[in-house]
Amino acid sequence: MRHLLSTRDLSRDEAITLLDVAEDMAAVQEREVKKLPTLRGRTVVNLFFEDSTRTRISFEAAAKRLSADVINFSAKGSSVSKGESLKDTAQTLQAMGADGVVIRHPSSGAPFTLATSGWIDAGVVNAGDGTHEHPTQALLDAFTMRRRLHGGASRGRDLDGVRVVVVGDILHSRVARSNVWLLEALGADVTLVAPPTLVPVDVSGWPATIEYDLDRALADRPDVVMMLRIQAERMHGAFFPNSREYARTWGLDDHRFAQLPETTMVMHPGPMNRGLEIAARAADSTQSTVREQVANGVSVRMAALYLLLSGERGETR
Ligand code: CP
Repeated sequence: MRHLLSTRDLSRDEAITLLDVAEDMAAVQEREVKKLPTLRGRTVVNLFFEDSTRTRISFEAAAKRLSADVINFSAKGSSVSKGESLKDTAQTLQAMGADGVVIRHPSSGAPFTLATSGWIDAGVVNAGDGTHEHPTQALLDAFTMRRRLHGGASRGRDLDGVRVVVVGDILHSRVARSNVWLLEALGADVTLVAPPTLVPVDVSGWPATIEYDLDRALADRPDVVMMLRIQAERMHGAFFPNSREYARTWGLDDHRFAQLPETTMVMHPGPMNRGLEIAARAADSTQSTVREQVANGVSVRMAALYLLLSGERGETR
């Protein structure tokens, strides 16, 4: 694999290979010495033009556990504020010897541009671009589902027939997009639930069922309920419906959580708006995988960096 830009590009077999390598990396995490020498001498640059806690820190941990050198770049406080372009920023980092670039950017398509423009020679990982995709988040979500469902017998398995309900701000969610494509590749059935104002106009082309009534979707006793963050920062002040109406109609509140089967997984990519899209009781329950998702993120990102940066490079994806 040359780059990891999108889950839409991944075949079932490629996705399962990534998840299986992540299983190997999870086994490394359980050892007393968590490091592998695999990427010794390689340099990974974390190039973040948007805020992040989980993704940036877990890519840093993942690279370090593979013995890579890590350079963390945040647009805040850099020469980006003086008007330096993505091309010049990337080429500056390439000149410092970057073998891999992990990029988060507010513009959809920025990682694709970086990977295909010829500006740099490094492998590129999309760590979230605008409202487009967040492939490693979807991979860690699938990894978490597979582990909860199949435990130690996860290796080689897909998510055939697993029923996943994704709820919330689908319009602005790169997590939803990456999950829809990956879950389709892995054989899961996806239902998207949102207010009509937060459904993308092109949703009819997605491999998912659209539902506007959360209670109706939950009545089908899904295997997984994935709550999404309301992305107020992308709404430029216009948030319709308002917070109270949203929480009442589309939030996983105490009452809805109590109706769920005990086997239903409750997921959230974080950061959470507690009391808005998810109640504390649901977020902190044993059904919640929120902390597992964060821990699994390190294993999945180790797998992605390993597959991109170890060995010979030159495949075209
Ligand atoms: N889930 C996720 O991408 O979180 P961060 O924005 O904290 O990286």
